[in-house]
Amino acid sequence: MATRSKQGPDSVSIRQATRADLLSIYRIEKQAFDQPWPYPAFEKFLGEPNFLVAIADDHIAGYVVADTTPNAGRDIGHIKNLAVHPAKQGEGLGRSLLQRAILGLTVADAARIKLEVREGNVRARKLYRDAGFEPTKRLPRYYDDGEAALVLVKGPEPTADLGR
Ligand SMILES: CC(C)(COP(=O)(O)OP(=O)(O)OC[C@H]1O[C@@H](n2cnc3c(N)ncnc32)[C@H](O)[C@@H]1OP(=O)(O)O)[C@@H](O)C(=O)NCCC(=O)NCCS
Repeated sequence: MATRSKQGPDSVSIRQATRADLLSIYRIEKQAFDQPWPYPAFEKFLGEPNFLVAIADDHIAGYVVADTTPNAGRDIGHIKNLAVHPAKQGEGLGRSLLQRAILGLTVADAARIKLEVREGNVRARKLYRDAGFEPTKRLPRYYDDGEAALVLVKGPEPTADLGR
């Protein structure tokens, strides 16, 4: 079921993504990233309870893709993608989507949640830090253009090895 919250002047709701949303999601993806996911990468996550869209003024304004994988008896959550339409950024949608995904993964019994973020993505890094994610590892040249990724983790596991 969709939940509704008030973000600035717009009425916003967040619900699970459906096939009918995919084209709008893909359009945002191409605007938000220099190296966008291909369309079929989103199709693969249809049915996943933590593939969510934010609707503002009856339009898809952003999305988050997250799932869980088994990990030695306790699932690990993974936030794989998060983006907001450029015209809707800075209105709290990214934060709301992230919070909903964290809640969904926690309900799905994820012991920890991890994600990768570009080292130079200051905006996203602040958003994740505010949500309780901490850097655990740096992956040099992780992205095709040579930029490093930081692996961020939210959960009980101790953090270590940053920069090594
Ligand atoms: C990162 C992203 C998802 C954040 O979504 P958003 O809806 O713009 O963010 P929010 O409005 O929820 O704001 C969350 C935080 O982002 C930062 N932020 C938002 N707008 C900002 C701006 N114009 N300049 C700098 N920081 C900004 C702030 O730290 C803000 O926290 P605050 O509200 O305490 O100031 C969005 O900017 C985006 O889609 N970026 C391109 C794709 C991307 O980088 N995705 C993350 C991949 S890991």
